[in-house]
Amino acid sequence: MKPPESPETAQNIEDLLRRMTLEEKVGQTLQYNGADDDALEQLHNNHVGSFLHVMGEKLEALKEAAGKTRLGIPLLFGIDAIRGHGLWRNATLFPTQMALSCSWNPDLLEEVARITAREVRATGPQWTFSPQLDICRDIRWGRMGETFGEDPRLTGALAAAMVRGYQGSNLADEEAIAACPKHFIGYGETVGARDGTEADVTRRTLEMVFLPPFRQAVHEAGAATVMAAYNAVDGTLCSLHHELLTGVLRDQWGFDGFVVSDWDNVGRAVYQKQVCTSIREAGVKALRAGNDMAMSTKNLAGELVAAVTAGELAEDVLDQAVRRILRIKFRLGLFDQPARRGIDREKIRTVINCPAHRAASLEASRQSLVLMTNHGILPLAPERLRSIAVLGPNADDLFGTVGGWVIGSPQAEFPDAMHDRDHIVTVLDGIKARFASATVVHERACCVVDQRHAISGWFTQRQPGETTTPPEGGMERATELARSADVAVVVVGDTMALQGEANDRADMDISGGQMELLHAVKATGTPMIVVLLVGKPHTIGWIKENADAVVCGWNQGVEGGTAIAELLAGDFNPSGRLTQSWPVSIGQQPVHYNQAPGWHAPRYVDQAIEPLFPFGHGLSYTTFNCGDATADRTTLTGDESVTIAAEVANTGSREGTVIVQCYAAVHAPLVRPARELLQWQRVHLNAGECRRVDFIIKRDDFTFVDETGKRVPANGKAEVWVGLSSRTRDLNGTIVQLAG
Ligand code: BGC
Repeated sequence: MKPPESPETAQNIEDLLRRMTLEEKVGQTLQYNGADDDALEQLHNNHVGSFLHVMGEKLEALKEAAGKTRLGIPLLFGIDAIRGHGLWRNATLFPTQMALSCSWNPDLLEEVARITAREVRATGPQWTFSPQLDICRDIRWGRMGETFGEDPRLTGALAAAMVRGYQGSNLADEEAIAACPKHFIGYGETVGARDGTEADVTRRTLEMVFLPPFRQAVHEAGAATVMAAYNAVDGTLCSLHHELLTGVLRDQWGFDGFVVSDWDNVGRAVYQKQVCTSIREAGVKALRAGNDMAMSTKNLAGELVAAVTAGELAEDVLDQAVRRILRIKFRLGLFDQPARRGIDREKIRTVINCPAHRAASLEASRQSLVLMTNHGILPLAPERLRSIAVLGPNADDLFGTVGGWVIGSPQAEFPDAMHDRDHIVTVLDGIKARFASATVVHERACCVVDQRHAISGWFTQRQPGETTTPPEGGMERATELARSADVAVVVVGDTMALQGEANDRADMDISGGQMELLHAVKATGTPMIVVLLVGKPHTIGWIKENADAVVCGWNQGVEGGTAIAELLAGDFNPSGRLTQSWPVSIGQQPVHYNQAPGWHAPRYVDQAIEPLFPFGHGLSYTTFNCGDATADRTTLTGDESVTIAAEVANTGSREGTVIVQCYAAVHAPLVRPARELLQWQRVHLNAGECRRVDFIIKRDDFTFVDETGKRVPANGKAEVWVGLSSRTRDLNGTIVQLAG
C-alpha cells in the first residue's frame, strides 16, 4: 500500500517547487531515451528528469551529473524489467506474464516481482514499466503474451501481487522499485488486433473488462505510476484523455502518483494520429489531461516553456505534474544519501542470477506449464527409455525459448546479442540432463519463419539470428531420427519475429516448415510429444488430434528447459491452467469464455463455437473430481455473505494441485457475460484425498455494469458454479437469490 504523505515530504516538495525555474519544472516532466548519444546534453540543456533504457556506466555518469546540477534533483531511471531484469546481461529471467498467469498464483507473482526489484535496483534503475494489464481477446495481437490472459479478476489479482512485490512496504527500501501498470487503457482490444489503433470499447465494456484490473493495481495495491496507452478511446488518445487520466484515475480511485505516456505518444498525436497540429499543442493537452511525463518526445522542452510563457498552459497545471513526479522521487528515497551513492558492484555480483533467484525461476516455470492433452504417454519413464529424438526449431533456440523483452529482442536497444548461451536452459539441454541414461539426438529440421514473415514488420527486420533458410537435409534427418527413437519430442512454436510489439499476425497457424515436420514425425509411427514454445495461443487443431501429448511451455525463463524435462519425466505433477481460450480457427475469434449470451444460432455453419481449449483448462498426472456446489443460504441481503462449497477429490494415484474455479452469473436488466470468474483456489490433494472447498462470496460481489458505466449491485437470481474449467460440462451450479 502506498504510505500516507508525511507533512515533511509535502513541505520538501513545495520548497523545491518554489526554487525551481520554469525550465527546470518542464524538465521534470520529460523522459528521454538514455541510449541516445545526447543524453547528457539533454540533462544539461533541458533539465530532463528521467531516462529510460540506460544502465551501467552511462547511468552512473547521468546520475552523477544530475547530482551536480543547480538543485541536484535526482534522476528517475525506468527500465522494462517485465519478466525479471531481462535487459541486464544474465539476470534472472522468469517466464512471461502469460505463462506465469497459468499458475493462478498471486503469491508466486509477488515473489517474481520481489526478486526482479532486487536485481533491478541493485543495477541502478528504480522504476519498471510493469505489470502489463491489457486484456486481449484476439490472439492475433502481437503483445498478448505480455498479458495475464482474458479474465479481468485474475488479471487484477496477479497485477496487484506484482505491484506489491515490486514496491514492497516501503518504496525507499533498497530492494524496492516503482511499478507502472500499463497500458491505460483498452490497448489489447484494438481494431483487427492491430497494435495501437482505435479501441472501439463502450463505457460499459471499459468498466466490465478493462478498468477493474487497473483499479486493483492502483487503488488497492498502490502502484506509484501508470502508463497511458498508445491507442485512442472514443477518438481521444489515451495520453490526452482527461476523463480517464483525471476523472477515473485521480478523482475516482485517489491515485496520487504520476502518469507517463507510452513511447513518443505525445509526438504521435501530431505525426501519427493527427489530432494535434503541433508538438506544443499536444504537450499542453497531455499535461492538462493528467499525463504528467512524456516519454521520448523530442523538442518538447522549449515548446512547453513557450506555452507557459505565452499563457497557453497555466503554470499551476505544470506544477501539479511536477509535484506528482517529485512525490514519487521522494517516496523512492532518491533524495536520501544512500540512493545518491554510486552503484554497488559487489551487490550486483551477489544478487544477479544468484542460486536462490534461479531456484525461484525454476519453480515459476513449473507452475506455468500446461499439460494440454495426454493420451497416456506422459509421464515418460526415464529409466526405460533408450533414445529420445528432440526435434524442431525451438528445441535449442534461445530466442524461441524465452521470447521478448530480453537482451537481443527488438525493443532492447542494447549492444549485446543475447544472454550467454549457458545462462538459459533450452528444452534440449533440460532433456539431456534429466534423461542422461538415454541417447538424446537433435535436429532443428526447419524454420519458424518463412519468406512471408521476413518481409513484414519493422521489428522483424531487426530480428537477430532469425533465418528463413532451413538446414539442408534437415527434414530427412529429423524423420530418420524420429523413426529410430523410442519417442520424439517435437518442440515447435513461434519466435520473436512473430510476436511482441508491432508484430501482429493475420493467421495463427504453426508457421514455417514446422507443420511439415510434425506430419513427417507422425508418419514414422514413433510416439510424438509436442512441446509448444509460444508467446500466445495458436490454432493447433491438427496437433491436438495427432500428438500423443501436448505440453504448452510458453516462453520460459532461465530454467524453462529444466522444468519441461522434469514435467516429461513426471518429477512434478503439472497444475497450470489456461488463462486464455485457444480457438479452433482464427475465424472463431474472439472466443473468450466471458461473452454475453444471445447469439441466434448455437454454432457457425462450418464450425462449432466452443474453443479448442477453454479458459481454465489444464490436465494433471492424477485425476480430480469436483462434486455438486451447495450454498449455505438461499437468499442474500445487505452485507451478508454466502458460502459456496464443493467436495473436490483426487481420484487418481498421485498427489497433485488443482485450481478450483468459482464462476457466477447474475440477473440484470442489461446484457452481460453469461459467466464470470469470481474466485479460485489452488488446492493440493494427496492421492485419494477429498476436501471441501469453500468460496465465501459477499453480497457486493454480485454486480453488473449499468447503462452509465457504473458497477451496481445485482438483484434477483444469481447462479454460481464451481468446477475445474470454464466449460459448462466441467461446472456444477447452484442458485442464490439476491435481495435488497
Ligand atoms: C511499449 C511499452 C514500453 C515502452 C518503453 C513502448 O513501445 O509499448 O510497453 O514500456 O515502449 O520501452
